[in-house]
Formats: sequence, structure tokens, C-alpha cells
Amino acid sequence: MSADSSLRSATASLPDLATIQALARDDMAAVDALIRHRLASDVVLINQVAEYIIGAGGKRLRPMLLLLAAGALGHRGADAHQLAAVIEFIHTATLLHDDVVDESDLRRGRKTANAVWGNAASVLVGDFLYSRSFQLMVELDRVEVMRILADTTNQIAEGEVLQLLHVRNPDTDEAAYLRVIERKTAVLFAAATRLGALLSGADAATCDALHAYGLNLGYAFQIADDVLDYASDAETLGKNLGDDLAEGKATLPLIHAMLHSDAATRDRLRHALEHGDMDALPDVLQAIRATGGLDYSRQRASEYASAAERSLDGIVDNEYTAALRGLARYAVNRDH
Ligand code: IPE
Ligand code: IPE
Ligand code: MG
Ligand code: MG
Repeated sequence: MSADSSLRSATASLPDLATIQALARDDMAAVDALIRHRLASDVVLINQVAEYIIGAGGKRLRPMLLLLAAGALGHRGADAHQLAAVIEFIHTATLLHDDVVDESDLRRGRKTANAVWGNAASVLVGDFLYSRSFQLMVELDRVEVMRILADTTNQIAEGEVLQLLHVRNPDTDEAAYLRVIERKTAVLFAAATRLGALLSGADAATCDALHAYGLNLGYAFQIADDVLDYASDAETLGKNLGDDLAEGKATLPLIHAMLHSDAATRDRLRHALEHGDMDALPDVLQAIRATGGLDYSRQRASEYASAAERSLDGIVDNEYTAALRGLARYAVNRDH
């Protein structure tokens, strides 16, 4: 068997998303019920905005990762449900804030909350979700859990500000891009899987392995997201295409194109990024395709997914670890 076909057969034997979701179904139902229950506030606008974005669905990938990490190490229970809800609240808060910063108007197939209620309401309800997540985590009364989540939310904020510093800067290179996505995205995935391991009572090395899995998966997930921003369609994605260019974000497909284009094309790409010029989107897409920017980025995402899988090599093999391996593949092969 060639190296290629052995890789294919290894991938083929991994569970698909439906199988993984079935494995987590009962726990995820408990998490969803908890999310609904703990969203409540007597301030009407909070309920409206929070229900609106949470009710639109979303993949619920981060809470599922926490549950699967705990399950892999033999732990299931109410504390895992509670922390899974915390992780989804934090994620949702970042989305509310992110859509304001990115001036996005489509999310989860609906108008964004900022498009419906305005920026102020989105930012403030995002703050509500952040602080509600703190209330939930404090109930567990475990300092290590609080430390992980305090550090993580702090790093996410740093990542968002770091990204802001790079906006409209065509000299942003791959290393700078990776520093941003580690903080804005990957650390929350890492916290989810580390917390799952921690709840199971795993030793430090196992917690570190699950952390490494989540971190690598997070990189893969964000790179794939940045490919989809150029390569999907709004209906499938539930978000508008070209948001990153409009916002002046140098993501990996464009960074690659700027590096490998001729001087004239490079100048046009730099200009498009500096001005967030959506009229240049077809031209930008053409340059990204011509330089193989999408394939290069998919390849990089795939390398991070493989690193995520390798992080699990020393961990017991069971259907939950198989599900985690499957999710690493899903993160890069997904269409939304
Ligand atoms: C969107 O995350 C933000 C990124 C890190 C790219 P998801 O793609 O997980 O969003 P939902 O929760 O499924 O809508
Ligand atoms: C993810 O970056 C931002 C967060 C971590 C919230 P994006 O700006 O690419 O996310 P989307 O594409 O709007 O979901
Ligand atoms: Mg965005
Ligand atoms: Mg995006």
C-alpha cells in the first residue's frame, strides 16, 4: 500500500460528524438545556439578543470537544455540562463582539445582532454573556478551572487587539498571522479539551496532551475558516464571503498570494487590503487561485489537524478518542 492510500484508509476509518454527534447527543442535550436555562435575565433586551444568536444554532463544536475529552478519559457528569455551557457562552460573547468589530451583517444564516439591534446592544449583551460565564464557572468552586478560563479569556482579548493592530497592514506575514489566530481562536479550543481532561482527574501529562490537541485543532479550524471566507458561498457558510478582505484582514490565503505574485499583482493586492476594497474581490480571488493560496492554506490546516491527532497518541484508545481524531479531520474538511 502506498503512503497515500494508507493515509486515506486511516482517515476513512475515522467516525464522521454524524457518528460523533450521536456519541455526544445525550450530553449535548443536557448542555443545550443548561444554556437555555442560564441565559435568562429579567432585562428583556438581553433575553432577546442572547436567544437570537444562541437559538440560531451554530456547530456547538467547543462544548462538544470538552465533553469528548472528558469522555475519552472516562468522565461524564454535571460539572462537564456546566463547563461546556461556559465555553459556549464565552464563544458566543466573542462572536457578538467580533461582528461589531468586523462590521459583519450575516452570522449563522441570519442578520447579525449588530445589524438588528445595533453595536451598543451587541457589545453589552456580549459582556453579559462573558460575565454570566464567570458566574457559572465560579459555581464549580475550583481554582484551577477559574485560572484556566481567566487566562484564556484574557488571551482571546489580546488576540483580538493584536489582530486590530494588523488590520490593513499588507506586511503581515504568516508568523504574525499565526500569533493572532493562536490567541483569538486556538486557546479556547485548548481550554475546552484541557478542562475536559482536568475534570476527569487526569495527570498533568494527559492534561497537556489534550491541551496540545485542542490548540492544534484550533489553528486548523481558523485557517479553514479563513479559506472558507474566500471559497464558500454565503448560503452554505451562513456568513458573507469576503468579510476578511472588507475588514482589511490579512489571512493566510491572501498572505500567500502576496508573497508569490508578480510585482504588479502584489501592488494591486496590497492596495485592496489597505483599502478593504470589495470591488477588488474577483481580482484578489483570481490571484489567490493562481498562486495556489487556497491549497497551500488547506495544506497548512491539514498539518495542524495531523499534529492534533498525534497529540492523542499516548492517550487510551476508545470511541471518544476516535471521535476527537474524527473532529480534527472535520475541522479542515467542513463546508461551514
Ligand atoms: C466562528 O466559530 C469563529 C471562528 C473561530 C472562526 P464557529 O465556526 O465555531 O461558529 P459557530 O458557533 O459554529 O457559529
Ligand atoms: C474569529 O475570526 C474571531 C473569533 C475568535 C470570535 P473571524 O472574524 O474570522 O470569525 P468569523 O468568520 O467572523 O466567524
Ligand atoms: Mg468576524
Ligand atoms: Mg472568518
